[in-house]
Amino acid sequence: MREHSGVDLQAGKEYFVENRLAPLLAPHGCQNFSQFIQKLARDNGPLRTKVVDALTTHETLWFRDDSFFSALADEILPRLASKSRQQKIRIWSAAAATGQEAYSVAMLLDAAGRKQDPNFDISRMQILGTDISASSLVTARQGRYNHLAISRGMRPGFLETYFKREGDIYEVAPHVRRAVKFEQFNLKDDFAPLGKFDLILCRNVLIYFSDDLKRQICIRMRSALNRPEGYFAIGASESLMGLEAGFKQITVGRAVLYQPML
Ligand SMILES: C[S@@+](CC[C@H](N)C(=O)[O-])C[C@H]1O[C@@H](n2cnc3c(N)ncnc32)[C@H](O)[C@@H]1O
Repeated sequence: MREHSGVDLQAGKEYFVENRLAPLLAPHGCQNFSQFIQKLARDNGPLRTKVVDALTTHETLWFRDDSFFSALADEILPRLASKSRQQKIRIWSAAAATGQEAYSVAMLLDAAGRKQDPNFDISRMQILGTDISASSLVTARQGRYNHLAISRGMRPGFLETYFKREGDIYEVAPHVRRAVKFEQFNLKDDFAPLGKFDLILCRNVLIYFSDDLKRQICIRMRSALNRPEGYFAIGASESLMGLEAGFKQITVGRAVLYQPML
């Protein structure tokens, strides 16, 4: 896991690993973990993908962390929406899981843009959601959520404006879905092919990595930001303290974000 995804499963996680992998044994014709490990060693991809899916945590919700999304809604996204009249704005949700984070940004951006101009067209923006987990990305691309998933963190008014209900399933409005693309991407890989971004969200994923990998990823994130005004965000319980990744901390409303040091 460490080599492939960077996820650093420390001693003490044996029970977690056993619990998450046990359901994969029988479907792959294995009676015990030794057989499973042998099979995994011979695998050229598909089983590895399932193991990574099983051992990563895809917990997410809509508008996760109120201070952060209020800072986006009140200051950062209105700024980017008005900038979009002159240039293409690009936003990256770098550990997108099942898509709630990227769609939350897209909905707020759409709302901010329409407030400035009723003809605002969110398709002029590019919002990219990436994750290592193939199964999470299937849900993200579909943009379809059941009653339980839709209710977690949803802000008043957004469900009615941005979703179509079909029985127990809520589907993201087509114009928002079209603005968000999802791709499989491993944060250990080279970011250069993805291009530059005005806002990068790398939230609640760095906690799974070693300090060394965190630093490498943050340094590469800095290079992937447009200068001088690119914004970088991590999770509310995460910090870049001591990493020396070349960011300065800024406060927007009640949220802490980062910008590249010049
Ligand atoms: C806890 S979720 C965070 C979701 C969202 N950013 C949020 O804050 O609600 C962490 C995500 O990181 C992904 N992940 C873990 N290692 C990764 C890697 N090396 N590259 C890309 N994504 C990774 C997992 O698959 C998982 O979906």
